[in-house]
Amino acid sequence: MGIHETTLPKSVTAESVLSVHHWTDTLFSFRLTRPAGFRFRSGEFVMIGLMGETRPILRAYSIASPSWDEGLDFYSIKVQDGELTSRLQNIKPGDPVLLGKKPTGTLVLDALLPGKTLYLLSTGTGLAPFASVIRDPETFDAYERVVLTHTCREVKELDYGKKLMEDLRNDPLIGEFADRVTYFSSTTREPYDRQGRITDLISSGAFFDAVGQPAFNPETDRVMICGSMDMIRDTRALVEGFGLREGSNAMPRELVVEKAFVD
Ligand code: A2P
Repeated sequence: MGIHETTLPKSVTAESVLSVHHWTDTLFSFRLTRPAGFRFRSGEFVMIGLMGETRPILRAYSIASPSWDEGLDFYSIKVQDGELTSRLQNIKPGDPVLLGKKPTGTLVLDALLPGKTLYLLSTGTGLAPFASVIRDPETFDAYERVVLTHTCREVKELDYGKKLMEDLRNDPLIGEFADRVTYFSSTTREPYDRQGRITDLISSGAFFDAVGQPAFNPETDRVMICGSMDMIRDTRALVEGFGLREGSNAMPRELVVEKAFVD
């Protein structure tokens, strides 16, 4: 069933699903058509949704594809009784999905001062905006090295990030940057090469040892954080303890955070 144009609020367009991939029982990703003139900065989020009985049901989603890509990728949890994701998880190629017209967000290069090393710290679907940032050549113009971290409860939940890194290495356009990316993953509820919350691994120093970098330094290091509200609160406090201050589009500094909105 299509969406009749006249029922659409002015703030959205109806796009088509190009592909869907189910990673686990609780995680999936999908790709939408990108309307002509839809501009965004890598790392931003946008409203995504479906028509409900009487009104559109929209949630903020980070765009997981880079700004040069012709499609738009999203990475989502599935919540069985979630108002949106209980239905969104069933989309098939060709189905309509609502897309907001105004992407925005704080996880953008513009909100950070120049530096040497960019740390992208994520848990769960908080990886999504970094899947965009890590594939943007501007990131590599601005930083010598990028360290991407992803922590999940279980090993299988790391698959999206592992595939992202594999695709980056093999990409004809941006593969040359892969050598400047350090990927660090850990789990918290299943045995794996590296275990522990990113906060604990930073506090103990095990994280810096593993990635071969000195502890965060406000002179040279910039940090973006994306995960649950609790993860963001604790990780921000920890990173601020190293002297990095939170910035914004209006006042770039050393640190930016954004919560993964969908629940
Ligand atoms: P844990 O398994 O110890 O709770 P969630 O699915 O709850 O968002 O969790 C995703 C990952 O983020 C899990 O590995 C989880 O660890 C971790 N996590 C949850 N809360 C925090 C926090 N406050 N600080 C750091 N990591 C966290």
